[in-house]
Amino acid sequence: MGTAILGTGSCLPERVLSNVELEQIVDTNDEWIRTRTGIENRRIGASGEFTYQIAAQAARRALEMAGVGAEQIRLLVVGTISSHMLMPSCACFVQQEIGAHNAFAYDINAACSGFLYGMDIADKHIRADRDAKVLVIGAETLSSRLNWQDRNTCILFGDGAGAAVFGHVDAAERLVLGTNHYSDGRLWQLLYMHQAPSTNPDLLVPDNPGVHIIMEGREVFKHAVKAMEEAVGGLLDRVGMTIADVDLMIPHQANIRILKKLMERLEIPEEKVVLNVMHYGNTSAASIPIALDETNRAGRLRPGTTVLFCSFGGGFTWGATLLKW
Ligand code: ACO
Repeated sequence: MGTAILGTGSCLPERVLSNVELEQIVDTNDEWIRTRTGIENRRIGASGEFTYQIAAQAARRALEMAGVGAEQIRLLVVGTISSHMLMPSCACFVQQEIGAHNAFAYDINAACSGFLYGMDIADKHIRADRDAKVLVIGAETLSSRLNWQDRNTCILFGDGAGAAVFGHVDAAERLVLGTNHYSDGRLWQLLYMHQAPSTNPDLLVPDNPGVHIIMEGREVFKHAVKAMEEAVGGLLDRVGMTIADVDLMIPHQANIRILKKLMERLEIPEEKVVLNVMHYGNTSAASIPIALDETNRAGRLRPGTTVLFCSFGGGFTWGATLLKW
C-alpha cells in the first residue's frame, strides 16, 4: 500500500539546437562541449512559447496514461525556475490550461530538484488523503534565462517539461519507498539567477547580471557528486537496501561527467542508468520527469522494478527518491 505513479508524460519543443549551431553564436566548439559535458543537442522553445504551455502538454499526456481526468486532480505542483510570471504561478497557468479546477496549485522553486521535491510533497499529501490525485510537473524554458554570450553556461541548458500523476494504490508494488532531501543556502553564490533585471544597478551586485544564470562550474561539479552520493547512501541505508537492489537509476541529467563520477562512486553499472543528457542538455526541474517518461514509454519499467532518482541544483538543493514500479 502506498503512493504510486499512475501515468507519465513529457513535452519537448521541436526546435533542436546543436553544438555546431552554437559555434555560430558563441566562442565554443562541438568537441569541447561533447567531451566536457556529453551534450550534443538541446531543445529550444519557440519565441513566445511559455513554460506553462509545454508543462500543460506534458500533463495532458500523463493524465491520459493514468486514465485520470484533470478535474480529479486535488493538488498540482510545478517545479520551475523559469515561469513567465512571478504571479500567478506557473502551476495556476497550467491549472487553467488543462482544466484542473478542483486542484490547489503552486510552484516549487528548487531548481533541478524541483521534481523530486514535488514527488516528496505528492507522497506525503497522498499519505494524508488517500483519495487525492496529485499532478507533479517539472518544466523549464531556460533558453530565455541564459546569457548567450557566456559560453560557461549557455551550452549546458535546454527547454522541456515532464509530468507524473500520483495516487494511492493498495498493491504491494508501484509505490514510493522513501525520499531523502536536503538544501544548503550557504553556498548559493556558486549557482544563481536574479529574479529580474533591475533598472537600478545599486539594487544588484556590482556586475548587474540580470536574469542570467551565474555559475562556478568546477565547484558545482564537486558538490553535486558528493551530495548525490550521500543522499543516495542515506536513503538506501534507511530503507535497508543496497545499490545492488536498484534496477534502474534516473538521475538529474546535468552533464555526463557528473553522472559518470556518480556511477563510479555509487558502483552502479552504466547499463542501469538512464542517460539522455546528450539529446536535451540540462533541463533543470524537467530532466528527471522527461527521462522517467521516456523510460516508461520504452517499456523499461516493469512491475517490481526498483527505481532510484537523484538530483542536485541551485540553492543548493539535492536529494534521492526510491520507488518500486
Ligand atoms: N567552449 C570552449 N571553451 C570553453 C567553454 C566552452 N563552452 N567554456 C569554458 N571554456 C574554456 C574556459 O574558458 C577555460 O579556458 P582557459 O583554460 O583558457 O581558461 C577552459 O575551457 C576550461 O574551463 P573550465 O571552466 O575549467 O572547464 P571545466 O573542465 O570545469 O568544465 C563545466 C566546465 C562543463 C561547466 C564543468 O565545470 C561542469 O560540468 N560543472 C558542473 C556544472 C553544471 O552541471 N551545472 C549545471 C547546473 S547544476 C546541476 O544541474 C547539477
